[in-house]
Amino acid sequence: MKRYQLLIDGAWIDPAGGEWEANVNPANTDDVIGEFAVASAQDVNAAVEAAQRAFSVWRAMPMVKRGDILYKAANLLEARLEEVAQAMTREEGKTLPEARGETARGVAILRYFAGEASQPDGEVYPTALPNRMLFTRREPIGVVGLITPWNFPIAIPLWKIAPALVYGNTVILKPAELTPLTAWHIADVLTQAGLPKGVFNLITGTGHVAGSTLVAHNAVKTLSFTGSNAVGREIQRKLIERGGKVQLEMGGKNPVVVLDDAHLDIAVEMVTRGAMKSTGQKCTATSRVFVQKGIYKQFSEALVARVKSLRVGDGLDPNTYLGPVVSREQQQNVLEYLQIGQQQGVRLGTGGAELMSEAYAKGFYVQPTVFLDVDINNRLMQEEIFGPVVGLAPVDNLEDAIEAANSVPYGLSAAIISQDIGKIMRFIDGIQVGLVHVNDETAGAEPQVPFGGFKDSSSHSPEQGKAAREFYTQVKTVYLDYPT
Ligand code: UN1
Repeated sequence: MKRYQLLIDGAWIDPAGGEWEANVNPANTDDVIGEFAVASAQDVNAAVEAAQRAFSVWRAMPMVKRGDILYKAANLLEARLEEVAQAMTREEGKTLPEARGETARGVAILRYFAGEASQPDGEVYPTALPNRMLFTRREPIGVVGLITPWNFPIAIPLWKIAPALVYGNTVILKPAELTPLTAWHIADVLTQAGLPKGVFNLITGTGHVAGSTLVAHNAVKTLSFTGSNAVGREIQRKLIERGGKVQLEMGGKNPVVVLDDAHLDIAVEMVTRGAMKSTGQKCTATSRVFVQKGIYKQFSEALVARVKSLRVGDGLDPNTYLGPVVSREQQQNVLEYLQIGQQQGVRLGTGGAELMSEAYAKGFYVQPTVFLDVDINNRLMQEEIFGPVVGLAPVDNLEDAIEAANSVPYGLSAAIISQDIGKIMRFIDGIQVGLVHVNDETAGAEPQVPFGGFKDSSSHSPEQGKAAREFYTQVKTVYLDYPT
């Protein structure tokens, strides 16, 4: 069984505690992908110290040169796209086309931030005084801790790593326990691209040891986290207590509003993709659909028929639309919600249970599920499920739809399907989310624009685009007088 080590101070090393964890394919638990190092607190502290030492070297390298290294990493990742995509499907369960798409997105993210290295990194201002030049400069902060989830194991780490590095910070990545192989590829690609030692460190392991040690380390003053609200708020408290800076991307309960004038095929396609791609395991996944009464019956019948036709299976099989959920624990969570719905007598359009037949016996499969006529206050419509489950509810008009859509603590993403520009604009005005999609699915993101949520979905410090520069730098204002 191949063993994958920790990357600390430019060297691949065994974990200090001698502990290794097997990584298993959620589509087929007989398939063991490898054994991965479980970092101890000692390893994490060594990684932070290495990142501290590397900071002076890295920040001194001109930004354009740092960008060159990211370009090189992008090319190396592109060259092994197929290998990384296969690894991702095997350890996370998403389909191969999705894994390829995500890896290509990782390449695009690296290139975008490599390009940022030649963008202005400050501003010149007019002044109230003669013989003075007044300007600002963006500078790196220092050691950055990154804690990332399993559902986008290439894209999310890279959209944190790439800006952190290009602006001159050094990094410790603690990836999700369930997806260490994709993280290993990121580390390998960055190393081969020529990063100086200690600039990027990989500590695979558990949240309660590796994650907690990283969060508690006094030298980690900047931390970015994507994951659950419970863990995110805990991390936020700790960072704020020691005057640190924290960025959180957490849950979602993303609505789609389908108006009477909607193009039915587009509505069905966008809701199906948003709810079922990646087996519903995206913080941007569609989980609530508010449909205007005139089209409710037609839309719900068409959606149920479409969802019934979806092929569930191993993500490596080209006929599969949705793969397994990522783990036994995740499967149990989703099944619990399916039971709650049925115990409460919510009308089931399709799905509602575990997939039990022979073909599914070795994986963590759940039927894609549609609930109909769901009360907007039902737990199914209020809590994040993170599985292939969507609830529909009829609404009278746009105003009621917006009110229903806003009736959750989350505010990440939302979509409207309509051809009426006035209604679309009123939706954009009234919806309380950070990401709005029109005639599109609720998921998906491009690297050049901010990505982040309102309300309980985030810490109000978006990622990607120019927003990433705000987070990963600090500003220095210079008053330069030149008396004659
Ligand atoms: C996407 O919608 O393509 O964890 C990205 C998540 C989000 C990323 C979604 N932070 O699902």
